[in-house]
This record gives sequence, structure tokens and C-alpha cells, in this order.
Amino acid sequence: MVFHVPVMAPEVVAGLVGDPQGIYVDATAGGGGHSRAILDSLGSRGRLIAIDRDPEAVVQVRQALVDDRVVVVGGRFGDLRQVLARQGVDQVAGVLFDLGVSSHQIDEAGRGFSYQQDGPLDMRMEQGEGMSAADLIAQSSMEELATILDEYGEEGQARRIARAIGGAPVMATTADLRRAVESTRPRHLPKTLARVFQALRIAVNRELEQLALGLEAGMGLLGPGGRLGVIAYHSLEDRLVKQTFAPLLRGCTCPPAVVLCVCGGKASFAKVAPKTKKASLSEVGSNRRARSASLRLYEKLGG
Ligand SMILES: C[S@@+](CC[C@H](N)C(=O)[O-])C[C@H]1O[C@@H](n2cnc3c(N)ncnc32)[C@H](O)[C@@H]1O
Repeated sequence: MVFHVPVMAPEVVAGLVGDPQGIYVDATAGGGGHSRAILDSLGSRGRLIAIDRDPEAVVQVRQALVDDRVVVVGGRFGDLRQVLARQGVDQVAGVLFDLGVSSHQIDEAGRGFSYQQDGPLDMRMEQGEGMSAADLIAQSSMEELATILDEYGEEGQARRIARAIGGAPVMATTADLRRAVESTRPRHLPKTLARVFQALRIAVNRELEQLALGLEAGMGLLGPGGRLGVIAYHSLEDRLVKQTFAPLLRGCTCPPAVVLCVCGGKASFAKVAPKTKKASLSEVGSNRRARSASLRLYEKLGG
């Protein structure tokens, strides 16, 4: 089975790689598809540091990319500065974040990410480290569960579903969770299940906190003209990226009523393309995962 098919790989490379001899970071190496594409566009002095928090992904990418210009390391992109410092790197030409989980993670029933397969209710990207989804549910009040479903799943029936999950006799497998959600008789069961599983996955892996930290670190590590790309798969991620960059694109912090800028603030980033990129219809036709993807690319100004 294919580990993962990268989304918008040609668009990522065209928008991210400005200096073929530069140092690039793939902060979410997954199956190594984007890493491969970036590497193929680099010159002999270019370097790629591929990172993933999932040990299985690290093994996969180490096997897939045997090349002197690459180093594959385990770690979280929220700790990007420290991860790169260990490689002796404090400035880079580009960073890519391809968010969420890989097809491999979803397809492996034992990882507990999918409502379509029965497996342990785990969902930890780091495998075995930290709290599993079952532990999180066991240790959360119904109020806390409802907040998770509401904030991370944007689920309209969060309280009702939280009550069903919290009141279930056992909650150890994905089938237990699925049954609890089914018992609330949602109008669109697959969509509700997708929202509930997404919400728990985000909470277990602290995905939005990681993204905020990763963006901040990535922006700081870029040299002038360096680029940062993010592929988001749902509105929570995409909104966070957009809101993080909005003040940096504007620079000026004067109130809207002030016609001529008096604060003197200058933009520190520019968009690489005016519009967010979406996958083409033909790509969506061959890779369902691509349908919800949005690619945003930014360039650091100055220098
Ligand atoms: C969508 S997949 C990336 C697929 C990859 N671009 C490819 O071409 O195969 C997302 C990957 O990011 C990893 N990941 C998610 N959050 C992370 C984090 N905070 N730090 C490091 N890796 C992370 C996941 O383990 C997963 O392997």
C-alpha cells in the first residue's frame, strides 16, 4: 500500500524553493513525497532537513531518501529551533508544513485515527508518548469534552455527543466511540464522525498549539527572501495561518481611520501568490485527500 501521496507537490516546490543551494526544512516529512520533490529541485550544495514526530514516518523517510544532502530527524515542529540547532542550523531558505495526518497513519487500524476501522482509541502521532484519546476521554469532564468537540471539531451537537461519549460503559476502541456518536442519531453520521475524530485527534496531539509554535519558529529561522509554505486541511488550521501572517503582511498598526501611516511599521512578509492555492480537479480526482487542501506561501522581506 502507498504510504502517502503528496498534495500539490509541483506547486509547493515552485513556490518554496527560491535558492537551489539553500537549506530547506520539511517539517512534516510523512512518507517523504514532498521531501523527494524538494530534494529533486535542489543543487549539489542544497540541503534538506526532514522532520516528523511519528517514529514510523522517520523510518520510512530514511529508507525512501538515501542522499547525502538529506538528514531525517524525529521531533516536533513546535520545537523547530532546537531540532535545527542540533543539526547546527540557525537560518534556512524555506520551511514546509503539510499539516494533519498521513494516509498511512489513517489506514493503520492500530493507530486509532479512523472511524472506518476498528482499533484501539489511541490517535497519538508519537506512538506511545503522552495521553491517548481513550485516556483523554477518561480524564475529561463532560464540559471539557464538549469544549473539545465544539472548538476543534466545530460540532454543532457538541454537548449532546459529549454526554453520549462520557456516559458510554466502555470507551477503549474506535468502535466504542463510533457507537456512542451513532447513539445520538446525527443527521449526517459520516460528517459527524469525521468532526468528532478530528476534534479528539487535534486535542490529543495539541495540533493547534504545535502549529502556532511552528509558524513562529519557522518565521524566525528564515533568512531574507526565505519562504514558508503551509498546506492546511481544515478551517481551524487555515484560519490560524492567515491570522498569524495578517499583521506581518500589513506592517502598519495605525487605526483604520488614520489615512496616512504615522506608526512607520513596515511589512516583514509578503504573499508569494495573491490567492491561496487549491489542488486542480485532476489532482482531486486521483487523490481525495487533496480536495480540502489549501496552500499558503509567504516570503520574508528585507536583506
Ligand atoms: C500530511 S502528513 C505529511 C505528508 C508528507 N508531506 C508527504 O509528502 O508524505 C503529516 C505528517 O506530519 C506529521 N506531524 C504532524 N504534526 C507534527 C508536528 N507537530 N511535528 C512534526 N511532525 C508532525 C505527522 O506525523 C504526519 O506524518
